[in-house]
Amino acid sequence: MLITFEGIDGAGKSTQVTKLKRHLEELGREVMTLREPGGTPVAEQIRELLLESRNDITPVGELLLFAASRAELAQRVILPALESGTDVILDRFFDSTTAYQGYGRGLDLDMLAEINRIASCGLSPDVTFFLDLTPEDALMRKFSEKSLPLAFESEELDRMENSGLDFYRRVRSGYHAIGAENPDRFVTLDALLSPAEIHREIVAKLDALFAKS
Ligand SMILES: Nc1ncnc2c1ncn2[C@@H]1O[C@H](COP(=O)(O)OP(=O)(O)OP(=O)(O)O)[C@@H](O)[C@H]1O
Ligand SMILES: [Mg+2]
Repeated sequence: MLITFEGIDGAGKSTQVTKLKRHLEELGREVMTLREPGGTPVAEQIRELLLESRNDITPVGELLLFAASRAELAQRVILPALESGTDVILDRFFDSTTAYQGYGRGLDLDMLAEINRIASCGLSPDVTFFLDLTPEDALMRKFSEKSLPLAFESEELDRMENSGLDFYRRVRSGYHAIGAENPDRFVTLDALLSPAEIHREIVAKLDALFAKS
C-alpha cells in the first residue's frame, strides 16, 4: 500500500509517519518510509543541489529538479518495494508539488499535473492523509518549538506574516482543492488534535482499507 502524508510545514506529518510506521510493523507488515527529495544516490545529489543553492534556482528549475529526484525514487525504490509487498509511507509526494508550486507559486496546474504524472512513474497513493491547520497555527507551533518568549516582538510576527502567511494560505487552499478533486484517496484530518487522536483516526481509516483489500 502506498500511503502519503501532506500538509503545510509544521502540520505534524513526520510525527504521524513515525507513529504509523511503528503501528504497521506491529501488525507484522513490512514498512518503508521515505522523504523527498532523495532516497537514491542520484536523488541525494539532486537534494544537495536543491538545498545548497535553493535561492538561485528558478521556480521551473526547482520544479524539474524535484521531479527528477521523484522519478529516480519512484522507479528505483518505491515501485520495487510495492511489488515486493512492502508498505511505503511517503512524507510528501506529488500533491506537495501541486500545492506549493502550483497553488503557492502560481505555476500552471495542467503542466504540473503532466510533470507529476511522468515523475511518479504512474504511481498514485492508495490513501493520502492531509493534516490541516491554518498557517497562523503552524506559525505558533514553530514559535513555541523554538521556545521564543510568548511576548515575542510584534515586528517579528509581521515579518513572518509578510514573507509567508499569504503563500501558506494559498498552499492550504490548494490542498483543499486537491482534496475536492480526489475524494476517494484524500483524507483530511484536523492537525490541531493531539498526535495520539490523529494517529487513531489514521489507523481507523487504514483498518477500513485493509478490510476492503
Ligand atoms: N498533533 C500535534 N499537536 C501539537 N503539536 C504537534 C502535533 N504533531 C506534531 N506536533 C509538534 O509540531 C512540530 C512539527 O511537527 P512535525 O515535525 O511532525 O511536522 P511536519 O509536518 O513534519 O513539519 P515539516 O513540514 O516542517 O517537516 C513538532 O514540534 C511536533 O512535536
Ligand atoms: Mg517533517
